[in-house]
Amino acid sequence: MKQSSVHDCHLISLPKIGTPEGNISAINEYIEVPFSLNRIYYLYDVPVGEKRGGHGHKELRQLIVAACGSFSVVLDDGKQKVTHHLNRPYQGLIIVPGIWRELEDFSYGSICLVLASDSYCEDDYIRNYNQFLKYKLCL
Ligand code: TYD
Repeated sequence: MKQSSVHDCHLISLPKIGTPEGNISAINEYIEVPFSLNRIYYLYDVPVGEKRGGHGHKELRQLIVAACGSFSVVLDDGKQKVTHHLNRPYQGLIIVPGIWRELEDFSYGSICLVLASDSYCEDDYIRNYNQFLKYKLCL
């Protein structure tokens, strides 16, 4: 999506089922997330101070959840940047296609859970920032 903006990405509240023994949050395709769920992956053991991401996707939609700990997601549409700090397992950030993202400020032991609309496809990545800008500006 070449025309997407950082404002098309948004935080969502996930249901939290609280019990005295602990909490549960469930995520269903087309209910909590507006796309089909075809892949789950998670980042863990990220060294404090390390950055992840640093790419955009042409078609992939994602929901990012701080399942444990916290980290920041910097979104960039080539014109504007917005930073979201994720620190609650019952909150998620929906990222639409065509957004450059960087993940940073990982707390020790944090887990970044990602629910994705499609299976892994390297051709869907834009890994060079100048190529991303060209893609967004249709240059
Ligand atoms: P990448 O998506 O660049 O990681 P991040 O955005 O978290 O920094 O992926 C890092 C490596 O892992 C890259 O070589 C591709 C591989 N990978 C898979 O094989 N399958 C996957 O589902 C993902 C997300 C990554």
